Order: sequence, then structure tokens, then C-alpha cells
Amino acid sequence: MTNDNPKTHAARAALDYVKEGMILGLGSGSTAEIFIELLGIRVAAGLRVQGVPTSEQTAEAAREAGIELLSIEHADRIDLTVDGADEIGPDFALIKGGGGRLLREKIIANASDLMVVIADESKMVKTLGAYPLPVEVDRFGFSITAKKVFDALCQAGSSRPDVQLRQHKDSDMPFITDGGHYILDCACVAIPDPAKTAARLCAVPGVVEHGLFIDLARVVIIGDEHSAEILER
Ligand code: 5RP
Repeated sequence: MTNDNPKTHAARAALDYVKEGMILGLGSGSTAEIFIELLGIRVAAGLRVQGVPTSEQTAEAAREAGIELLSIEHADRIDLTVDGADEIGPDFALIKGGGGRLLREKIIANASDLMVVIADESKMVKTLGAYPLPVEVDRFGFSITAKKVFDALCQAGSSRPDVQLRQHKDSDMPFITDGGHYILDCACVAIPDPAKTAARLCAVPGVVEHGLFIDLARVVIIGDEHSAEILER
């Protein structure tokens, strides 16, 4: 973690939303891990919070930072979730799931009173879709599901999407999510209508969740080398 890192500026600004006694959704990815490290410093100084992790990796990072963890089954509310994103489009519609944690990230974001997204400016886009959209699918019948996902994306206005089964980065085995599913990475170039795309994908049997986060984020914090800009809607 370096002080002039744009992600660090964004993560530090997100600390202002954290209050004593809060139950926090802890996001996944490199930016969220910087937030967890900074939060750990506040906890060591006496702040009392509990964290609900969005992935096993995040749980490990939170333990190392000394943050008390709470399993989602024991959380009667989540006050605030702070998470990263792969793309941030108009109306704070997001693509998430680059790290393959989209299902738990979405369950936790949706259960939160407030979702704050932290990122560097490279994540801001005019149209979603240059980043391949992750779609989490059940392993049963995944190749049939992949064809239906292709059709759904075309029907929603993406032209000739490239749908690929995600491979584990260290082997030629498929990547398996924390929930035991596969990920289809869908290179769409552009997603002209995110809401329609989300609805079409949800209608495909075998799709467990997709990485379009619509109407979830209300605050986006964009870091640069010097500071962070807070955008709210
Ligand atoms: C993981 C995610 C991450 O938030 C997203 O990939 C951004 O990661 P990073 O902060 O490392 O750029 O959605 O599933």
C-alpha cells in the first residue's frame, strides 16, 4: 500500500462513512483489501465494528487486520458495504466479479443500507461492457447454459458476445467460485442496456448470478495520485 496510490486515496476517503458499532460488508479485490488494511488501523486504535466478508480471501485479510468477523447468518443488518468494481457506468451501474466473488458481493451489497464503491479513475466508463461481464453458472449443463447466455446477451443488444469459461489462473482447470460454481466471462464490447441485459440473464436456467450491479451503489469514490473525489446519487 503506497500513500500516492489512487486506490489508497479512495479507500481512505471511504473510512469517513464508517461509524462506531457498524456492521460492515467487506468487499473483495485489491482496492477493498486496502480499505480493510486501513480499517484495521482504526480498529487497533479502538474503533468497534464487525465485518461480513464477501469472500474467503477477504475473510483472511480481515482476520490479519484484526477486524472482528460476523457470518452473514448472524447479521440482522448490514449498515455499510465498501467494495471495488471492474467498471462504473452511468447511474453508478457496475460490472463486478473480476475476482469471481460476485454472488456473495451482490447478496451483501443488496442487504446493506449503503454501498460505497472505491476505485481509481480507470474504472469510470461511459458505456459498460469493455470489461468482460462475469456470469456465475451452475456446473450442471454449463455448456448449454453458455449458449443460452450468448442468446440472452444478443437479445439485450450486445453484438456477437464472446462467452468463455473462466480458467483457474494457475492451471488449465475451470475456476470455481466460493459457492462451487463456474464463471462465464462474456466479452460484449458494449452493454447498451444494462437493465435489459440483467433481466435476460436472470431468466436463463443455470445462471446463478451475473456481475451487473444496478441500483445498488449510491456513493462512488474515485481516487487519483493526490486525493479522492466523492460522487453521490
Ligand atoms: C471481485 C470484484 C472486485 O471488486 C473488482 O474485480 C475490482 O477489483 P480491484 O479493486 O482489484 O480492481 O468485483 O469480484
